[in-house]
Amino acid sequence: MTAPAPTPTRKQLHQIAALCPQRWVQHYTRSKLSSDPVYGAVANEVIGTTEPLLDIGCGIGLLAHYLHVCGHHVPVTGFDYDQRKIDSAISMATSAGHSHLSFAAGDARTGLPEFSGHVVILDILQFFTEEEQDALLTAAASRVASGAKLIIRSGIRDDSGRFRITVLGDYLAKACFWMKAAPTRYPDAAQFQRVLTAAGLKVSIQPMWGGTPFNNFLIVGQR
Ligand SMILES: C[S@@+](CC[C@H](N)C(=O)[O-])C[C@H]1O[C@@H](n2cnc3c(N)ncnc32)[C@H](O)[C@@H]1O
Repeated sequence: MTAPAPTPTRKQLHQIAALCPQRWVQHYTRSKLSSDPVYGAVANEVIGTTEPLLDIGCGIGLLAHYLHVCGHHVPVTGFDYDQRKIDSAISMATSAGHSHLSFAAGDARTGLPEFSGHVVILDILQFFTEEEQDALLTAAASRVASGAKLIIRSGIRDDSGRFRITVLGDYLAKACFWMKAAPTRYPDAAQFQRVLTAAGLKVSIQPMWGGTPFNNFLIVGQR
């Protein structure tokens, strides 16, 4: 069993937030990095490995900075269709002097960059139709190198109160213009099993609620 990833200090998280171009994004980043369990969960999956990492729907690149302060200095490629976020991600990586982080704008519904390594998809599948979700999962899995992982965080569709809160949270993110789109469809656990197993990955699905009210799960496919 691999040792858990180191927990970044408050000072390190504040240093990441200070790279953000606007004051309100600095506040958002500080609170997100210190409260959202997903960054530590991804770090636990990849720390100790040497493969590069592709972050699909990277936003402003917080995962890349989080991994860096955990001592994980592999090349990270971030990919997101929001040009404003990619511009911020590039400017933050440049200010930090992190030349191993690169960011490109593009729509994951129409193709992914050529890549081989670990692939991460955090919180974007709800913006896709079922066909687009299947296509993205299959394309992402094809970029997972031997021994590497596809690591996904997604809300999962079921009949829980947590699921209803997840949907509400995504509508609020759209209403305050942080997200370009409202949610379209949430995958269920069977869909992940079906698509990722067909793509040759060994799949595990674990609740990842942390201190949040959301119905989030960590889905890991290993090749
Ligand atoms: C909830 S945010 C997550 C950001 C980042 N993964 C994180 O955890 O900090 C979802 C991101 O997915 C991006 N996104 C949504 N649909 C996309 C698409 N079709 N192609 C690429 N990026 C997309 C959004 O622009 C947004 O930055």
